Amino acid sequence: MPTAVVAPQTVAAELNFLSPTLKEKPFYYRTPPAGKPESNIVVESQAVNITDLRTLSASQRNAFTIDSAGFQIIEHQTVEKDFVDEDAIRNVYYKETEELLKSVTGATRVFIFDHTIRRRKAGEAETPENRGPGLRAHVDQTPKAGAARVHHHLGEEAERLSKGRVQIINVWRPIKPVVATPLAYGDYHTFDVNKDLAASDLIYPDRVGETYNIRYNPSQKWYYLKNQTPGEVVLLKCYESEDKPGRALLTPHSAFIDPTAPADAPPRESIEIRALVFYEN
Ligand code: OGA
Ligand code: FE
Repeated sequence: MPTAVVAPQTVAAELNFLSPTLKEKPFYYRTPPAGKPESNIVVESQAVNITDLRTLSASQRNAFTIDSAGFQIIEHQTVEKDFVDEDAIRNVYYKETEELLKSVTGATRVFIFDHTIRRRKAGEAETPENRGPGLRAHVDQTPKAGAARVHHHLGEEAERLSKGRVQIINVWRPIKPVVATPLAYGDYHTFDVNKDLAASDLIYPDRVGETYNIRYNPSQKWYYLKNQTPGEVVLLKCYESEDKPGRALLTPHSAFIDPTAPADAPPRESIEIRALVFYEN
């Protein structure tokens, strides 16, 4: 039987990038203090064609891995489905996600340091407790901030663990099928790491983290999974300690408004786990 020819489909959408007009180092506050500017970031939106991974063949889709491209789609069902009970998230879902990461990567140890639920209540202001989609292209950590996370969370063990390979991987999962505001992620190898990644200060009340904001470049290739379901997670690599030829070190990502989504599509509900991933000898 002839195999069907697969025609990749794209959606034309706007992504928000860091404007090249900003000359100083970008900064933003996690919780903006009263009377101070929240950020100096100047955003520039660009129309980008984002490829729907669902319209690729399975083998094409599976060729995108956290090491080849920086992102990877995994089919995986969970016991935890509601994500309303913080204890259940920490006791059940963290464990499920740890096991998932170990089985996909072969890591010996996984430490989940954070999660974010995006389920913004209609008509209420965006706060750290009431988050909506993150509509700016970014990477959660720079290499400096990624390496610092090991010390921040692992105390006495940090020095030993830092001698081996370390990654930070986000496990991003829909709570309900995602229609209106999906997540796009970029193939690492289509980015110019010297020009497109702008280290930015993320100011917490007690310390300063560092993230990358992304500058637009027409060679960048962006992907998403249309109508992504809770049984489909995307792994996003944010930090990699071992730079090897051909290896993806990170994946820029951004939520975007899908202009083809029905007007009555429900608001986005998703959870992302942030995990330190270790390969001990
Ligand atoms: C992330 C992230 C944005 C979103 O998972 O790190 O940036 O809209 N998510 O879900
Ligand atoms: Fe992110």
